[in-house]
Amino acid sequence: VVLLFKDDATAFNRQKFGTIDGKGPMNLRISVRILAEMERAGIPTHVVRVLSERELLVRKVQIVQLEVVVRNIVAGTFAKRYGIDEGRVLERPLVELFWKDDAHGDPLVNDDAAQLLGLATADEVVAIKALALRVNEVLRGFFGERGIDLVDFKVEFGRASDGRLLLADEISPDSCRLWDRGTKQKLDKDRFRRDLGGVEEAYQEVLRRVEEPIA
Ligand code: TMP
Ligand code: ASP
Repeated sequence: VVLLFKDDATAFNRQKFGTIDGKGPMNLRISVRILAEMERAGIPTHVVRVLSERELLVRKVQIVQLEVVVRNIVAGTFAKRYGIDEGRVLERPLVELFWKDDAHGDPLVNDDAAQLLGLATADEVVAIKALALRVNEVLRGFFGERGIDLVDFKVEFGRASDGRLLLADEISPDSCRLWDRGTKQKLDKDRFRRDLGGVEEAYQEVLRRVEEPIA
């Protein structure tokens, strides 16, 4: 399958839409660098190779119909749902599962519902949550070395033809919340969602830090 990285941006179940100039190529480069880091850490991904600045060849998988969110710091829908201020550091990472179902606004599901809705088997739910926490550890370390706090992120998994679960998603400022460790400035899609301005600049800054060699 060829993934096409577009400049289009949507939010709030597509109620808000626009474009972020140069986002596609930036997200492709950010994702490729990060997914390589995942492979190095022993987390299998769908990546095969880069075809062009906007096209990434990936293995064809059957996508598990779950959006798997891991949170380290309170933000977004967690803050809203439970009435907690953004920025509180959680005692330990939290994994949340959402049913990929736009018609119903991607509802939160628990492990039992995920199984009973036929989205994943009991073993898959356990494996997916463990993989997501592993992704979080690697990602948190990677961004930490680059002066960025990983607030939360979303990933999806897919079943390969041999039944193995692969990390099958982009990992970019579209799918992560990233705060500069010093200034706490938002370096992610919340700048678009909340009309904060400086959207392109934030993506450029993440790309710069992601590709910067670390001593
Ligand atoms: P949330 O706080 O809106 O639930 O988002 C949690 C994380 O998931 C955040 O880093 C943004 C990411 N996300 C996606 O990648 N795609 C989506 O459709 C949504 C709603 C969130
Ligand atoms: N892309 C998602 C949508 O259109 C949401 C988001 O990232 O905020 O709903």
